[in-house]
Amino acid sequence: MSSDGLDRVRALIPAIPDFPQPGIVFRDLFPVFRDPKALEALSAHLTTHLLNLPTDVDVIVGIDARGFLLGPLLAARVGASFVPVRKRGKLPGDVVRTSYAKEYGLDEVEIQKDAIKAGQNVVVLDDLIATGGSAKAAGELVRMIGGNIIEYLFVIELEALAGRDVLDAPVYAPIVY
Ligand code: ADE
Repeated sequence: MSSDGLDRVRALIPAIPDFPQPGIVFRDLFPVFRDPKALEALSAHLTTHLLNLPTDVDVIVGIDARGFLLGPLLAARVGASFVPVRKRGKLPGDVVRTSYAKEYGLDEVEIQKDAIKAGQNVVVLDDLIATGGSAKAAGELVRMIGGNIIEYLFVIELEALAGRDVLDAPVYAPIVY
């Protein structure tokens, strides 16, 4: 892991105390996108990981909003399609919807019904896993329209929050705090 450029990626991710509210240590991935070598190293690492999965990936599902950054880029590299999960009311056409508890109230998310064919192999992607609530909801949507989740993929895992424990498929995150 350390010899393929991920050290450069890790070094670019700051820990920002008390953002967006007191007590949260925010991990910001955007500095990685400012550094072409780091972005290439991260993309290459995740691409190799995806190509080495035991099953071919048909669809990468990216979670609103930071799952939209690496999602299409990785999909193009592995020959998969990209499908967004978005907040309620943003996607046209027939959608399915689910909700999940956030710290204050519920969040509702949707996927387009025809975006995944029954039985297609899906990787659910986001930049970071904290409690796992949004990834779990995205996984529910994928299953509601017949997708087969082969993995939940993140760049960063906040281990102490144990988000992976609420997900019922393998989880991969190369950078763990
Ligand atoms: N999303 C939830 N917790 C986060 C954190 N600590 N840093 C960045 N994004 C987050």
